[in-house]
Amino acid sequence: MRLEEYIQDSQTLVNKRINEYINKKESACKLIKDAMLYSINCGGKRIRPTLMFLTYEFLSTGKKTDIVDAAAAIEMVHTYSLIHDDLPAMDNDDLRRGKPTNHKVFGDGVAVLAGDGLLTDAFHIISSSKKINEEKKGMVIEILSRRAGSSGMVSGQTIDLVSEGTLLKKNSKKELAEQLDYIHQHKTADMIMAACEIGCILADKEKDLRSISDFAQKIGFAFQIADDILDVIGDKKKIGKNGSDKKNNKLTYVSFYGIEKSKELEEKLLSESLKILDMLDGRDEHKKLMKEMAYLLIGRDR
Ligand code: IPE
Ligand code: IPE
Ligand code: MG
Ligand code: MG
Ligand code: MG
Repeated sequence: MRLEEYIQDSQTLVNKRINEYINKKESACKLIKDAMLYSINCGGKRIRPTLMFLTYEFLSTGKKTDIVDAAAAIEMVHTYSLIHDDLPAMDNDDLRRGKPTNHKVFGDGVAVLAGDGLLTDAFHIISSSKKINEEKKGMVIEILSRRAGSSGMVSGQTIDLVSEGTLLKKNSKKELAEQLDYIHQHKTADMIMAACEIGCILADKEKDLRSISDFAQKIGFAFQIADDILDVIGDKKKIGKNGSDKKNNKLTYVSFYGIEKSKELEEKLLSESLKILDMLDGRDEHKKLMKEMAYLLIGRDR
């Protein structure tokens, strides 16, 4: 199977599941359902669900539909993080996934609540799943809540926020470099790690968890470096967002290291991630797709 088809198939499955789940909610008010589904249905690459499916299928003989509830959940958590990230109190962005941001359409208050709804419902879709067994549910919830919460993405976003303008202040280079790596690790790599770790656990391959985490950490980190580069040189139509790092004086790989050095660091992480993957046993077809996915994440598909 071609990677493009694999991604499309993952997108279709996850979109269908999230829409069905939200539409079926009887006591949820129409406004919050509309606001949640607006951001879900705007687009989005569905990288995290695709990585979860790939890891699961690489390490087991199962199929995507077995774990669709976990894949839907990680996408819901991710979409919540984007809605909040775009708010005026955070990055203050007007465009996301090629459409006006959630708060531009629904107002700041409803956008906050749409994020809250997606985050909370993500844990409900897992805990009420008929497909994931009870023991695994606990493990999935533990990983997702740790990687998304204050030990993970939320802290990355916090330091990202308070680091605005730090380049203009008198911090030492070493301090700034450490702060930047903390931001990238937590705001982005942690959720990519959660996606692959959950795929690994659901495949019943705890023995491979360490290597899978290391692989995901490297591609996740490289993915945020690529995002920093795209913020400056990306085609706004293709990336579906306007690029606000400069306006916000963000501490990014581009602002700290420059584009050339950032590209070198990306390449280094990519080659290290491929080496880790090579040492793992699993379905060859999926190993190949995972490698292609790693290239795609840093914008070098082949
Ligand atoms: C954007 O994530 C935020 C980052 C962590 C870089 P994606 O680039 O995966 O955004 P969507 O889901 O495709 O819109
Ligand atoms: C956001 O990072 C990461 C999360 C939402 C957790 P960015 O602020 O760089 O993401 P974009 O560029 O707005 O997509
Ligand atoms: Mg941000
Ligand atoms: Mg942002
Ligand atoms: Mg960005």
